[in-house]
Amino acid sequence: AIFSCLKGAFGSSAKARLCGHSITASYGEMCYHDNSLVSASLEALIQHLVPTVDYYPDVAPKLVQLLTEWTETFPYDFRDERMMRCLKDMTLQVARGDEYSWRAMQQMTQRLIKRLSALGQYEEAVAALNAVAQERPASLKSKQTSAQRSDILSVCDDPFILAQQLTHIELDRLSFIGPEEFIQSFAMKDPLENHKGFFRKRKTSNLEAYVNWFNRLSFLVATEICMPVKKKHRARIIEFFIDVAQECFNIGNFNSLMAIITGMNMSPVARLKKTWNKVNTDKFEILEHQMDPSSNFSNYRTALRGATQRSETAHSSQEKIVIPFFSLLIKDIYFLNEGCANRLPNGHINFEKLWELAKQVSEFLVWRQVICPFDRDRRILQYLVTTPVFTEDELHLASYESEGPENNMEKDRTSLLTRYIWTP
Ligand SMILES: *[C@@H]1O[C@H](CO)[C@@H](O)[C@H](O)[C@H]1NC(C)=O
Repeated sequence: AIFSCLKGAFGSSAKARLCGHSITASYGEMCYHDNSLVSASLEALIQHLVPTVDYYPDVAPKLVQLLTEWTETFPYDFRDERMMRCLKDMTLQVARGDEYSWRAMQQMTQRLIKRLSALGQYEEAVAALNAVAQERPASLKSKQTSAQRSDILSVCDDPFILAQQLTHIELDRLSFIGPEEFIQSFAMKDPLENHKGFFRKRKTSNLEAYVNWFNRLSFLVATEICMPVKKKHRARIIEFFIDVAQECFNIGNFNSLMAIITGMNMSPVARLKKTWNKVNTDKFEILEHQMDPSSNFSNYRTALRGATQRSETAHSSQEKIVIPFFSLLIKDIYFLNEGCANRLPNGHINFEKLWELAKQVSEFLVWRQVICPFDRDRRILQYLVTTPVFTEDELHLASYESEGPENNMEKDRTSLLTRYIWTP
């Protein structure tokens, strides 16, 4: 995080200095290639920030610039009161310098506090919604009475509208993920992190909330399909979700698309052969092909590049939407982080790796800030985030009730599940 900020605040001055004489020669600890920093020792980096005879930057504005970039890009670093105290101290230091910097620091702090309180409210709202979704009304427990639970088609039967509402949820939740959460979620054993304990207890809860949403959507899709008593009705719901998935693809909402495909491929849904026989699966097969994991998701990566290009030249905010298949994004960043060392054998910090990480996370930051252009439908949104969904066992049981167990393994499983779930 800090080095990404350093780049913003000091990158250009480093280059300017390089033009005159070679940094590598002057410090022996900073390596450049084509004017960009490849690696450096921590000492040299710090040295680089210290004024010299022929280089004495005006410190206060640089400090304000650095802190502004830091607080705007990584506001969650400042949820720690010790960080806030440091910030306050620095504000006082800078205030001694000049009026202009002092005012800039005040504004920056206000923006930061506003952002952090919005974050707190968001987290409370997600917790409250999850609590509602966890309530398990009796109506879910048995198919006979499940007619009481409204189903997705009674709430929304227009695939495009549903895809729009899914996109709202995706963008809402994406917008609260801090870029540092990617790194924190697997950086605990980072050797660079010698300030142990300082950042240790921080959560990556918004990232987790987003991953949970993906799982919820998959289970919701499976629940909606397994619940109806009539085969015709189940087939209609499958067809509806295929259309929703198609609309998600068109919008550039790859995360909802993948969650829907995942729900359709869960074994309680996939085993409903008689139901699937009534469905035209041509469209679904094309979508599955798009998201096919083989060759390292090459089809999906091509589609994602296409959506990214559309986004870069967009004329409307709808064209700007790119919502990546998030689990894969995390996996890519994870392997990038694991695959290269933070420090080179000579002890230098490996800037090439950090640039690459920064590139991936920055791309995400651009996608994250798109404002969803569609009208919100409160009722549909409420349904999507709070309606109870079956657990895995309940899904299996509902599925066996729809189409009886076909082999001994399924029969054994049914009787086991019946004993443990159905009996009050
Ligand atoms: C898959 O592709 C991504 C993006 O091109 C790349 O970063 C990653 O290393 C690849 N993974 C494998 C296992 O090839």
